[in-house]
Amino acid sequence: MKCKVLALLRSQQGPVSGEEISVRLGVSRTAVWKHIQTLKEEGYKIISRPGTGYLLQEVPDLLLPGELAHYLSGSMFGKNIEYYPTLQSTNDHAKAIADQGVPEGTLVVAESQEQGKGRLGRFWFSPEGGGIYATVVLRPPLRPDQAPGFTLLAAVALAQAVLKETGLAPGIKWPNDLLLSGKKFCGILTEMKAEMDRIHYLVIGTGINVNVDIQLFPEEFRDTATSVKAILGQDVSRVRLLTAYLQTLENLYRIYLEQGLSPIIKEWKAWNVTLGQHVTLTSGNEVFCGRAVDIDDSGGLVVLGNNGERRTFQSGEVTLRNQ
Ligand code: BTN
Repeated sequence: MKCKVLALLRSQQGPVSGEEISVRLGVSRTAVWKHIQTLKEEGYKIISRPGTGYLLQEVPDLLLPGELAHYLSGSMFGKNIEYYPTLQSTNDHAKAIADQGVPEGTLVVAESQEQGKGRLGRFWFSPEGGGIYATVVLRPPLRPDQAPGFTLLAAVALAQAVLKETGLAPGIKWPNDLLLSGKKFCGILTEMKAEMDRIHYLVIGTGINVNVDIQLFPEEFRDTATSVKAILGQDVSRVRLLTAYLQTLENLYRIYLEQGLSPIIKEWKAWNVTLGQHVTLTSGNEVFCGRAVDIDDSGGLVVLGNNGERRTFQSGEVTLRNQ
Protein backbone atom coordinates (compact mmCIF):
# COMPACT_ATOMS: atom_id res chain seq x y z
CA MET A 1 0.00 0.00 0.00
CA LYS A 2 2.90 2.35 0.79
CA CYS A 3 4.21 1.81 -2.76
CA LYS A 4 0.72 2.53 -4.12
CA VAL A 5 0.56 5.82 -2.17
CA LEU A 6 3.98 6.71 -3.56
CA ALA A 7 2.96 5.80 -7.10
CA LEU A 8 -0.14 7.98 -6.79
CA LEU A 9 1.91 10.94 -5.52
CA ARG A 10 4.33 10.46 -8.40
CA SER A 11 1.55 10.52 -10.96
CA GLN A 12 0.27 13.94 -9.80
CA GLN A 13 1.40 17.30 -11.17
CA GLY A 14 0.13 19.19 -8.12
CA PRO A 15 -0.93 18.44 -4.53
CA VAL A 16 -3.43 15.67 -3.85
CA SER A 17 -5.60 15.55 -0.75
CA GLY A 18 -5.56 12.77 1.84
CA GLU A 19 -9.26 12.34 1.15
CA GLU A 20 -8.68 11.72 -2.56
CA ILE A 21 -5.83 9.24 -1.88
CA SER A 22 -7.98 7.33 0.61
CA VAL A 23 -10.91 7.10 -1.85
CA ARG A 24 -8.74 6.14 -4.84
CA LEU A 25 -6.81 3.46 -2.94
CA GLY A 26 -9.70 2.28 -0.76
CA VAL A 27 -7.95 2.82 2.59
CA SER A 28 -8.67 5.05 5.58
CA ARG A 29 -7.25 8.57 5.83
CA THR A 30 -5.35 7.48 8.94
CA ALA A 31 -3.67 4.72 6.93
CA VAL A 32 -2.77 7.24 4.21
CA TRP A 33 -1.27 9.55 6.85
CA LYS A 34 0.79 6.68 8.31
CA HIS A 35 2.17 5.69 4.89
CA ILE A 36 3.08 9.32 4.19
CA GLN A 37 4.94 9.49 7.54
CA THR A 38 6.88 6.31 6.69
CA LEU A 39 7.80 7.68 3.27
CA LYS A 40 9.04 10.89 4.91
CA GLU A 41 11.12 8.83 7.35
CA GLU A 42 12.66 6.99 4.39
CA GLY A 43 13.81 10.32 2.96
CA TYR A 44 11.02 11.32 0.56
CA LYS A 45 10.35 15.05 0.74
CA ILE A 46 6.57 15.36 0.84
CA ILE A 47 5.04 18.72 1.55
CA SER A 48 1.72 18.54 3.37
CA ARG A 49 -0.33 21.70 3.67
CA PRO A 50 -3.79 21.83 5.21
CA GLY A 51 -6.33 22.60 2.53
CA THR A 52 -4.19 21.60 -0.46
CA GLY A 53 -2.90 18.12 0.33
CA TYR A 54 0.31 16.21 -0.26
CA LEU A 55 2.96 17.04 -2.84
CA LEU A 56 5.98 14.84 -3.59
CA GLN A 57 8.87 17.25 -3.95
CA GLU A 58 12.02 15.12 -3.90
CA VAL A 59 12.94 11.42 -3.90
CA PRO A 60 15.95 10.21 -1.89
CA ASP A 61 19.05 8.88 -3.62
CA LEU A 62 18.48 5.41 -2.17
CA LEU A 63 17.69 2.02 -3.71
CA LEU A 64 14.32 1.89 -1.95
CA PRO A 65 11.74 -0.71 -3.06
CA GLY A 66 9.29 2.03 -4.09
CA GLU A 67 11.93 3.56 -6.39
CA LEU A 68 13.00 0.25 -7.91
CA ALA A 69 9.43 -1.00 -8.31
CA HIS A 70 8.59 2.18 -10.24
CA TYR A 71 10.93 1.08 -13.04
CA LEU A 72 10.39 -2.66 -12.64
CA SER A 73 6.62 -2.82 -12.95
CA GLY A 74 5.56 -6.04 -14.64
CA SER A 75 8.99 -7.55 -14.17
CA MET A 76 9.85 -10.63 -12.12
CA PHE A 77 12.36 -8.67 -10.03
CA GLY A 78 9.92 -5.93 -9.02
CA LYS A 79 7.52 -8.18 -7.10
CA ASN A 80 9.41 -9.04 -3.93
CA ILE A 81 12.14 -6.61 -2.89
CA GLU A 82 13.95 -6.75 0.46
CA TYR A 83 15.79 -3.52 1.23
CA TYR A 84 18.30 -2.92 4.05
CA PRO A 85 20.44 0.09 4.94
CA THR A 86 23.17 -2.45 5.70
CA LEU A 87 23.70 -6.22 5.63
CA GLN A 88 26.64 -8.53 6.20
CA SER A 89 26.27 -9.73 2.61
CA THR A 90 23.28 -9.57 0.26
CA ASN A 91 24.27 -13.01 -1.10
CA ASP A 92 24.24 -14.58 2.37
CA HIS A 93 20.87 -13.02 3.13
CA ALA A 94 19.46 -14.11 -0.24
CA LYS A 95 20.58 -17.71 0.40
CA ALA A 96 18.99 -17.67 3.86
CA ILE A 97 15.62 -16.50 2.52
CA ALA A 98 15.87 -18.79 -0.53
CA ASP A 99 16.21 -21.69 1.95
CA GLN A 100 12.97 -20.47 3.52
CA GLY A 101 11.24 -20.62 0.12
CA VAL A 102 10.99 -17.02 -1.18
CA PRO A 103 9.73 -16.90 -4.78
CA GLU A 104 11.94 -16.72 -7.84
CA GLY A 105 12.81 -13.12 -8.66
CA THR A 106 13.18 -12.02 -5.04
CA LEU A 107 15.65 -9.15 -4.89
CA VAL A 108 17.85 -8.27 -1.91
CA VAL A 109 19.40 -4.80 -1.88
CA ALA A 110 21.60 -3.04 0.69
CA GLU A 111 23.13 0.44 0.81
CA SER A 112 26.30 -1.05 2.33
CA GLN A 113 27.72 -4.44 3.31
CA GLU A 114 29.86 -5.26 6.33
CA GLN A 115 31.24 -8.53 4.92
CA GLY A 116 30.74 -8.18 1.16
CA LYS A 117 32.03 -11.34 -0.51
CA GLY A 118 34.02 -11.55 -3.72
CA ARG A 119 34.87 -14.59 -5.81
CA LEU A 120 37.41 -17.09 -4.51
CA GLY A 121 36.86 -16.09 -0.88
CA ARG A 122 37.89 -12.48 -1.41
CA PHE A 123 36.47 -9.38 0.28
CA TRP A 124 34.25 -6.95 -1.66
CA PHE A 125 34.61 -3.41 -0.34
CA SER A 126 31.03 -2.15 0.02
CA PRO A 127 30.87 1.39 1.42
CA GLU A 128 27.64 3.30 1.83
CA GLY A 129 26.73 6.08 -0.56
CA GLY A 130 27.47 5.26 -4.15
CA GLY A 131 27.71 1.52 -4.71
CA ILE A 132 25.13 -1.05 -5.74
CA TYR A 133 25.02 -4.29 -3.73
CA ALA A 134 22.18 -6.47 -4.96
CA THR A 135 21.38 -10.17 -5.18
CA VAL A 136 18.59 -11.95 -7.04
CA VAL A 137 17.16 -15.39 -6.33
CA LEU A 138 16.48 -17.64 -9.32
CA ARG A 139 15.04 -21.13 -9.42
CA PRO A 140 15.92 -22.34 -12.93
CA PRO A 141 14.73 -25.81 -13.94
CA LEU A 142 18.29 -26.75 -14.90
CA ARG A 143 21.16 -29.04 -13.86
CA PRO A 144 24.03 -27.77 -11.69
CA ASP A 145 26.51 -28.09 -14.59
CA GLN A 146 24.43 -25.45 -16.43
CA ALA A 147 24.91 -22.91 -13.64
CA PRO A 148 28.18 -21.31 -14.88
CA GLY A 149 26.17 -19.93 -17.80
CA PHE A 150 24.47 -17.55 -15.37
CA THR A 151 27.73 -15.90 -14.60
CA LEU A 152 28.23 -15.03 -18.27
CA LEU A 153 24.59 -14.04 -18.59
CA ALA A 154 24.80 -11.61 -15.67
CA ALA A 155 27.97 -10.04 -17.06
CA VAL A 156 26.29 -9.44 -20.43
CA ALA A 157 23.21 -7.96 -18.70
CA LEU A 158 25.42 -5.57 -16.76
CA ALA A 159 27.45 -4.52 -19.78
CA GLN A 160 24.26 -3.75 -21.71
CA ALA A 161 22.78 -1.82 -18.78
CA VAL A 162 25.92 0.26 -18.26
CA LEU A 163 25.97 1.17 -21.96
CA LYS A 164 22.28 2.09 -21.89
CA GLU A 165 22.48 4.27 -18.78
CA THR A 166 25.94 5.87 -19.19
CA GLY A 167 26.99 5.54 -22.83
CA LEU A 168 30.16 3.78 -21.62
CA ALA A 169 30.99 0.40 -23.16
CA PRO A 170 32.58 -1.88 -20.55
CA GLY A 171 34.74 -4.88 -21.39
CA ILE A 172 34.07 -8.30 -19.86
CA LYS A 173 37.08 -10.21 -18.56
CA TRP A 174 36.36 -13.94 -18.27
CA PRO A 175 34.32 -15.08 -16.57
CA ASN A 176 32.50 -12.00 -15.32
CA ASP A 177 34.61 -9.02 -14.30
CA LEU A 178 33.50 -5.77 -15.88
CA LEU A 179 36.21 -3.29 -16.76
CA LEU A 180 36.28 0.36 -17.72
CA SER A 181 39.60 1.72 -19.01
CA GLY A 182 41.17 -1.63 -18.06
CA LYS A 183 40.12 -1.39 -14.39
CA LYS A 184 37.46 -3.38 -12.58
CA PHE A 185 34.32 -1.55 -11.46
CA CYS A 186 31.90 -4.43 -11.12
CA GLY A 187 31.95 -8.03 -9.96
CA ILE A 188 29.44 -10.87 -9.88
CA LEU A 189 29.26 -13.71 -7.38
CA THR A 190 26.95 -16.59 -8.30
CA GLU A 191 26.24 -19.19 -5.65
CA MET A 192 23.89 -22.14 -5.73
CA LYS A 193 22.22 -24.90 -3.79
CA ALA A 194 21.71 -28.07 -5.77
CA GLU A 195 21.52 -31.80 -5.77
CA MET A 196 23.36 -33.90 -8.39
CA ASP A 197 20.87 -33.35 -11.21
CA ARG A 198 18.77 -30.36 -10.16
CA ILE A 199 19.38 -26.78 -9.07
CA HIS A 200 17.35 -25.78 -6.00
CA TYR A 201 18.21 -22.12 -6.35
CA LEU A 202 20.85 -19.75 -7.59
CA VAL A 203 21.71 -16.38 -6.12
CA ILE A 204 23.41 -13.87 -8.42
CA GLY A 205 25.09 -11.10 -6.45
CA THR A 206 26.32 -7.94 -8.12
CA GLY A 207 28.59 -5.27 -6.75
CA ILE A 208 28.99 -2.11 -8.82
CA ASN A 209 31.17 0.87 -7.97
CA VAL A 210 28.86 3.55 -9.32
CA ASN A 211 29.28 6.97 -7.68
CA VAL A 212 32.12 5.80 -5.46
CA ASP A 213 35.27 7.78 -4.79
CA ILE A 214 38.10 5.29 -5.35
CA GLN A 215 40.39 7.24 -3.02
CA LEU A 216 38.18 5.93 -0.20
CA PHE A 217 39.05 2.34 -1.14
CA PRO A 218 41.64 0.35 0.81
CA GLU A 219 45.07 0.95 -0.72
CA GLU A 220 45.40 -2.54 -2.20
CA PHE A 221 42.39 -1.96 -4.49
CA ARG A 222 43.19 1.56 -5.69
CA ASP A 223 45.43 0.65 -8.63
CA THR A 224 43.10 -1.96 -10.09
CA ALA A 225 39.61 -0.66 -9.22
CA THR A 226 37.58 2.14 -10.72
CA SER A 227 34.02 3.45 -10.62
CA VAL A 228 31.51 4.65 -13.20
CA LYS A 229 31.78 8.15 -11.77
CA ALA A 230 35.58 8.15 -11.96
CA ILE A 231 35.43 7.37 -15.69
CA LEU A 232 32.36 9.44 -16.60
CA GLY A 233 33.14 12.46 -14.43
CA GLN A 234 29.61 12.70 -13.08
CA ASP A 235 27.09 10.88 -10.88
CA VAL A 236 24.83 8.26 -12.39
CA SER A 237 21.37 7.24 -11.11
CA ARG A 238 21.87 3.98 -9.20
CA VAL A 239 18.15 3.26 -9.38
CA ARG A 240 18.17 3.54 -13.18
CA LEU A 241 21.33 1.48 -13.53
CA LEU A 242 20.17 -1.31 -11.22
CA THR A 243 16.72 -1.54 -12.77
CA ALA A 244 18.15 -1.50 -16.31
CA TYR A 245 20.40 -4.40 -15.29
CA LEU A 246 17.53 -6.37 -13.76
CA GLN A 247 15.33 -5.91 -16.82
CA THR A 248 18.12 -7.08 -19.11
CA LEU A 249 18.91 -9.98 -16.78
CA GLU A 250 15.29 -11.11 -16.94
CA ASN A 251 15.25 -10.96 -20.76
CA LEU A 252 18.48 -12.94 -21.05
CA TYR A 253 17.26 -15.45 -18.47
CA ARG A 254 14.22 -16.19 -20.63
CA ILE A 255 16.44 -16.52 -23.70
CA TYR A 256 18.70 -18.97 -21.81
CA LEU A 257 15.73 -21.11 -20.74
CA GLU A 258 14.17 -21.09 -24.22
CA GLN A 259 17.23 -21.26 -26.50
CA GLY A 260 20.13 -22.45 -24.37
CA LEU A 261 23.44 -20.72 -23.75
CA SER A 262 24.67 -20.18 -27.32
CA PRO A 263 22.93 -16.77 -27.90
CA ILE A 264 24.32 -15.63 -24.53
CA ILE A 265 27.84 -16.76 -25.42
CA LYS A 266 27.59 -14.96 -28.76
CA GLU A 267 26.66 -11.74 -26.95
CA TRP A 268 29.34 -12.32 -24.27
CA LYS A 269 31.98 -12.60 -27.02
CA ALA A 270 30.95 -9.21 -28.40
CA TRP A 271 31.79 -7.57 -25.04
CA ASN A 272 34.79 -9.66 -24.07
CA VAL A 273 38.33 -8.36 -23.67
CA THR A 274 39.88 -11.77 -22.94
CA LEU A 275 39.83 -13.76 -26.19
CA GLY A 276 42.92 -13.27 -28.31
CA GLN A 277 44.91 -12.04 -25.29
CA HIS A 278 47.94 -13.60 -23.66
CA VAL A 279 46.70 -14.65 -20.22
CA THR A 280 47.84 -16.21 -17.00
CA LEU A 281 45.11 -18.42 -15.63
CA THR A 282 45.18 -19.40 -11.98
CA SER A 283 42.88 -22.28 -11.08
CA GLY A 284 43.36 -23.79 -7.63
CA ASN A 285 47.09 -24.39 -7.26
CA GLU A 286 47.69 -24.42 -10.99
CA VAL A 287 49.05 -21.51 -13.02
CA PHE A 288 48.70 -21.86 -16.80
CA CYS A 289 50.05 -19.35 -19.33
CA GLY A 290 49.01 -19.02 -22.93
CA ARG A 291 46.57 -17.35 -25.29
CA ALA A 292 42.82 -17.32 -24.62
CA VAL A 293 41.32 -18.66 -27.85
CA ASP A 294 37.66 -19.49 -27.25
CA ILE A 295 34.70 -20.04 -24.94
CA ASP A 296 33.25 -23.56 -25.03
CA ASP A 297 29.54 -24.43 -25.12
CA SER A 298 29.21 -24.28 -21.33
CA GLY A 299 31.15 -21.02 -20.91
CA GLY A 300 34.57 -22.52 -20.10
CA LEU A 301 37.68 -20.64 -21.26
CA VAL A 302 39.83 -22.40 -23.83
CA VAL A 303 43.52 -21.52 -23.52
CA LEU A 304 46.26 -22.53 -25.96
CA GLY A 305 49.22 -22.92 -23.62
CA ASN A 306 52.71 -21.64 -24.31
CA ASN A 307 53.68 -25.33 -24.17
CA GLY A 308 51.28 -26.10 -27.07
CA GLU A 309 48.71 -27.80 -24.84
CA ARG A 310 45.06 -26.78 -25.35
CA ARG A 311 43.13 -26.66 -22.07
CA THR A 312 39.60 -25.64 -21.06
CA PHE A 313 38.95 -24.07 -17.65
CA GLN A 314 35.50 -23.91 -16.08
CA SER A 315 36.66 -21.67 -13.25
CA GLY A 316 39.67 -19.62 -12.28
CA GLU A 317 41.17 -16.17 -12.29
CA VAL A 318 42.51 -14.58 -15.46
CA THR A 319 45.27 -12.00 -15.53
CA LEU A 320 45.61 -10.29 -18.88
CA ARG A 321 49.25 -9.94 -19.91
CA ASN A 322 48.96 -6.14 -20.10
CA GLN A 323 47.50 -5.85 -16.55
C1 BTN B 1 34.02 -10.57 -7.51
O1 BTN B 1 34.30 -9.96 -8.54
O2 BTN B 1 34.90 -11.06 -6.80
C2 BTN B 1 32.58 -10.72 -7.13
C3 BTN B 1 32.11 -9.58 -6.28
C4 BTN B 1 30.63 -9.70 -5.93
C5 BTN B 1 30.19 -8.66 -4.93
C6 BTN B 1 28.71 -8.66 -4.74
S1 BTN B 1 28.15 -7.27 -3.82
C7 BTN B 1 26.56 -7.97 -3.70
C8 BTN B 1 26.75 -9.45 -3.46
N1 BTN B 1 26.89 -9.73 -2.06
C9 BTN B 1 28.11 -10.18 -1.74
O3 BTN B 1 28.49 -10.45 -0.59
N2 BTN B 1 28.85 -10.24 -2.84
C10 BTN B 1 28.11 -9.86 -4.03
